[in-house]
Amino acid sequence: LVGTKSEKLGKLKKKIELIKNCDLKKNATNLVFADGNSSAKIMIIGEGPGANEDIQGKPFVGRAGKLLDKILIAIGRSRNKDVFICNVLKCRPPNNRDPLSTEVKECEPYLKHQINLIKPKLIVALGRIAGKTLLGVDNSLKSMRGEIHNYYDIPLIVTYHPAALLRNPNWKPQAWKDFKWIKSIIES
Ligand code: URA
Repeated sequence: LVGTKSEKLGKLKKKIELIKNCDLKKNATNLVFADGNSSAKIMIIGEGPGANEDIQGKPFVGRAGKLLDKILIAIGRSRNKDVFICNVLKCRPPNNRDPLSTEVKECEPYLKHQINLIKPKLIVALGRIAGKTLLGVDNSLKSMRGEIHNYYDIPLIVTYHPAALLRNPNWKPQAWKDFKWIKSIIES
């Protein structure tokens, strides 16, 4: 992690590392706290760490992460300099199952703390699970896409998860539309 707020984020990470009574954490190899720049205007939030992320202790480092890096490059942004990346859950759910609502509730204060420190201009939620979890609704991706939502007074956009784009490449043009929109919001 780089940026001016890295010290405060480091303290938050230490606090999470000390958590004892969490089953996800007990079964995880590594805590996956965040990556990128703490001074970034864009905060990207995924659902939870997968197998590669669990091993490396970094969000979005597997195949989906590589696609995310490419998408960011396509809008002229770098993963290390221009975005702060994290997940709703900080530890990998067994077999990549969807997060339980109890797990989301327990982990959410840490995400909120991250958001309060970063104070991004825009939050980008990747995928239906991240979107519905943050917005507290049970909606389809389709109904959440294409709209600027509000998350604790910060504009939030929901778009496709890169893993979904790997499975359904025919959705890529729609995702590209979203990322061009994200670029224009950041530049406005
Ligand atoms: N998928 C996610 O939602 N988050 C990651 O960190 C990796 C894959």
